[in-house]
Amino acid sequence: MSEHMSLSNELLVKLIESADTARNNSYAPYSKFRVGAALYAVTDKDESVIITGCNVENASYPAGNCAERTAVFKAVSEGYNNFKAIAIVGGYDSYTSPCGICRQVLREFVAPGDFYVIMAKNKTDYVIKTLEELLPMSFGPDNLTGV
Ligand code: THU
Repeated sequence: MSEHMSLSNELLVKLIESADTARNNSYAPYSKFRVGAALYAVTDKDESVIITGCNVENASYPAGNCAERTAVFKAVSEGYNNFKAIAIVGGYDSYTSPCGICRQVLREFVAPGDFYVIMAKNKTDYVIKTLEELLPMSFGPDNLTGV
């Protein structure tokens, strides 16, 4: 299923279940494409937390927000910004891959080779990629040092 076995199966299942539960709150009256995301964060005290998000659409279409960014913005605003993985559940018959904007938003807070994106149809059928694989040669905070 995956070569990224630094994530335990128990954690994977928990993240996918959390994303699927968050998907229930999706507000997607326009696309009807419901998405949930579950972000795994650790704290300075080595505690871990799961922060979820769903897509929130808007009658003014571009004002809508993806599930992944909802989760990131919730997390950062609550004091969590050390992220290790995110699970995404969209359609149950296909893997939902994060859009380019969400990849860049995630990039701000993680080491791309050390952050796992779990794209799941269900608890046993998923694909895992690092953010480095999904967003190679990315532009990040380091690029602005010395400016
Ligand atoms: N969407 C997400 O929430 N995450 C993704 O990874 C892909 C797309 C949302 C945005 C919009 O509400 C709907 O899915 C259709 O694009």
